[in-house]
Amino acid sequence: MLNISNYTSELISKSALGLKSGNLVAFPTETVYGLGADATNQSAVSRIYATKGRPSDHPLIVHISSSVKMSSWAKTVPDYAYELADKYWPGPMTLILPRKKTAKDFITGGQNSIGLRVPGHTIAIELLKSFEAIGGLGIAAPSANRFGAVSPTTAESVLVVLGEHLSDSDLIIQGGQCQIGLESTIIDCTSSHPIILRPGAVTIEMIRGTIKVNVTNDKKSTIVRVPGMHQSHYSPKAKVELNRFAMPGEGFIAMEGIPTPQGAIRLLAPEYDKAFAKGIYLALRAGDEKKLSKIAVIIPDGDGLAEAIRDRITKASS
Ligand code: TXA
Ligand code: MG
Repeated sequence: MLNISNYTSELISKSALGLKSGNLVAFPTETVYGLGADATNQSAVSRIYATKGRPSDHPLIVHISSSVKMSSWAKTVPDYAYELADKYWPGPMTLILPRKKTAKDFITGGQNSIGLRVPGHTIAIELLKSFEAIGGLGIAAPSANRFGAVSPTTAESVLVVLGEHLSDSDLIIQGGQCQIGLESTIIDCTSSHPIILRPGAVTIEMIRGTIKVNVTNDKKSTIVRVPGMHQSHYSPKAKVELNRFAMPGEGFIAMEGIPTPQGAIRLLAPEYDKAFAKGIYLALRAGDEKKLSKIAVIIPDGDGLAEAIRDRITKASS
């Protein structure tokens, strides 16, 4: 039975070799844990889809060790995308760019674009560098959860949800709890103006402060097809209900200042939005472990990271 492997530099070399020979490696990033495969190996990538139970037309993000490697995958990179990469990589941001032939249909879901990210986590970067040193071009990695479910923010969560679907030659690298806890900001960079497709810790305000061209989050104006963005997603087994107080026996998530209604089970009481983002997926999982049927969530208002929290919680509730 597959187990979690503790981080050592030998484990990183072993993981890189494993990826090169077509195995899967679940690894920590600063956002959530990813389920990685060699992004040029069709049979390895098809195992990602099988392991997640994910429809094959949903494109995967390719992880690279630095923005220098963008040219292996992207045909053209607009100036504003270089500016964003300089400012926010390594970090919680994915850029969608016109693809090169290296990015095959089995990665892009048949689209003409490729999603690229340099993760801001030392283990992820070491793994990418080790993989690139033996000829790898990039690691395709979706969040390491079953399709439609809550993303894992600890190695233990990966083992619980994917353990039975992985094989003994696959690996799960221990990296502790992810610091950010919500998936990366996805930005469509295939036209003259960037469009935010998924909000994350790199916020629209931060992007506006970095580039001169106008940025929007108007998903209707993108030509990029974004599966996984509209339907219900990020959902625990418990029914998530928004902006009401919990009844006795129900789970309750709200900022620290909001008291727990009598008889309700408090799952998270964060002091700041950052702590809300970091803890939300573990709190939803805890609700499932306690076999709660409903979780009431009072979502934070305001801009910045609160927008990404609202996005995920709203999807978890639909
Ligand atoms: O933080 C993250 O982004 C994590 C970590 C592991 O890097 N990854 C992640 O991957 O959240 P995933 O596959 O669970 O979500 C990526 C989303 C999907 O909804 C997919 O449809 C979209 O990105 N996507 C990827 N490539 C795309 C492309 N070429 N065009 C449009 N959407 C794309
Ligand atoms: Mg995902």
